[in-house]
Amino acid sequence: MTAYKLETQHLGKDYPGTVALDGVSVGFAGGEVHALIGKNGAGKSTLVKILAGSVAPSRGRILCDGVAVDLRSPQDAFDRGIAMVYQELSLVPGLTVAENILLGRTPKRRGLIDWRATNAQARAVLARMGVAIDVSARTGDLGVAQQQVVEIAKAMSLDPQVLMLDEPTSALAQHETESLFALVRGLAREGVAIIYISHRLQELRHIADKVTVLRDGRHIGSVAMRESSVEEIVQMMFGEVVQRERPGDLRPGDAPVLEVRGLSRAGHFAGVDFALREGEILGIAGMLGAGRTELLKGIFGADTCDGGQIAVAGESVGAPSPPAMKALGLAFTPENRKEEALIQAHSIRANMCLASMGKIARGRYITRAMEQVVVDEQVERLQIKVADSEDAVSSLSGGNQQKVVLGNWLGNRPRVMLFDEPTRGVDVQAKQQIFAAMWDLSREGIASIFVSTELEELIEVCHRILIMREGRIEGEVRPEDLSAEELTLRCMGEVGDGG
Ligand SMILES: Nc1ncnc2c1ncn2[C@@H]1O[C@H](COP(=O)(O)OP(=O)(O)OP(=O)(O)O)[C@@H](O)[C@H]1O
Ligand SMILES: [Mg+2]
Repeated sequence: MTAYKLETQHLGKDYPGTVALDGVSVGFAGGEVHALIGKNGAGKSTLVKILAGSVAPSRGRILCDGVAVDLRSPQDAFDRGIAMVYQELSLVPGLTVAENILLGRTPKRRGLIDWRATNAQARAVLARMGVAIDVSARTGDLGVAQQQVVEIAKAMSLDPQVLMLDEPTSALAQHETESLFALVRGLAREGVAIIYISHRLQELRHIADKVTVLRDGRHIGSVAMRESSVEEIVQMMFGEVVQRERPGDLRPGDAPVLEVRGLSRAGHFAGVDFALREGEILGIAGMLGAGRTELLKGIFGADTCDGGQIAVAGESVGAPSPPAMKALGLAFTPENRKEEALIQAHSIRANMCLASMGKIARGRYITRAMEQVVVDEQVERLQIKVADSEDAVSSLSGGNQQKVVLGNWLGNRPRVMLFDEPTRGVDVQAKQQIFAAMWDLSREGIASIFVSTELEELIEVCHRILIMREGRIEGEVRPEDLSAEELTLRCMGEVGDGG
């Protein structure tokens, strides 16, 4: 029997109150793309972090080419050719793209960074990936998707034998996903073992040779992708999932709650016009860089617009700023949860009560018990996997952190919700719960704007979808009138606006 490139035997990891991994034995062969899947909190990230040397296991063994190894640090893992792309971005925002890609390994001359060599090496890695990013740009100035590409480039630059990718496509658009896939397949052909975590089950069909399912830290099974259906895999992940459809009883009212007229921000978007009605769920579809996030930030007052008008419930807003918009009943869940939406070191409870502080408090005091009611309600509603709500939010799995961001705002009962990629990194079942939450809001007359890279979601959830391209609203469609493929083409500008 040929040895696996990497193998675990009875691997276990305990955290206070949680068994994150429970006796997992699985082998990863060279030349194979091995998908690791399971619902939020199943233990996927924990498993790969152990294999990357950044988390110590509580029990069990790791074998590298058939030999037991002790991975005490990421450096130990690198030395064995194991590279990892983390789920949460781990780049240093103040450094250039090239410095991040070659972090700790930048070529030096007389003790100083040799910029010419550094940039050339970084450019070569990006070129191999088929992407064009300015290597001398400050990393913090890039959008999430580009940062994710840089994160991948960083792992690639190590010329790994084992490459682990934890949800690498969650912020990528279609064409970037395709170039990543081509790259991953190329590496597999060269004999690299790929471990690939994703909640996008459809894309696994195109990339994975083998699938291992984890549930509550346990290894449920491993199957060949070609011999199994998505339904079977979902069954292994959850037992049962109820697919819900947009309920027929959602009737947006007539009164506009948010009106945007000629809104512009130079270099980002221009002449944006639309009205959002009470209880309406309005999708904004577009390719990466179309200006969707920028538009939401402009509406929320997080970025300053240089032209146009915003009115909330018929009242024109003089100078939009986040506090002013919040006071008018707007809420915004940003796409980049780690930096913009959560205070990592604070407790789950505190993070979930940030937005609704004013509503929870009676007079001038607020008690834990009062907060706990709000927390319990959202934990139940969104099925957040929490051992103790006093734990730091950083102890939650990626998808569960995302749910805390949403719970924080849902508890606040706003008038208008702005959702930027709310389902990023969230499992299939939890997506359904988030959709159900949007529909519940709609029933209560609360309107939503929903931005998602996954166009199927917009079609499933929204009443109406605006198509944004290069900073402009290019058209408007009803979800019942077109398929996700047609919507993708419209977003790319491949078909006329007549259809
Ligand atoms: N540092 C930590 N402290 C305490 N508990 C933790 C820590 N890291 C992970 N856990 C817990 O271990 C369990 C598994 O988490 P893990 O991050 O591996 O899940 P996951 O499968 O990657 O989920 P997701 O799809 O949401 O990213 C979760 O219950 C999580 O809360
Ligand atoms: Mg994870």
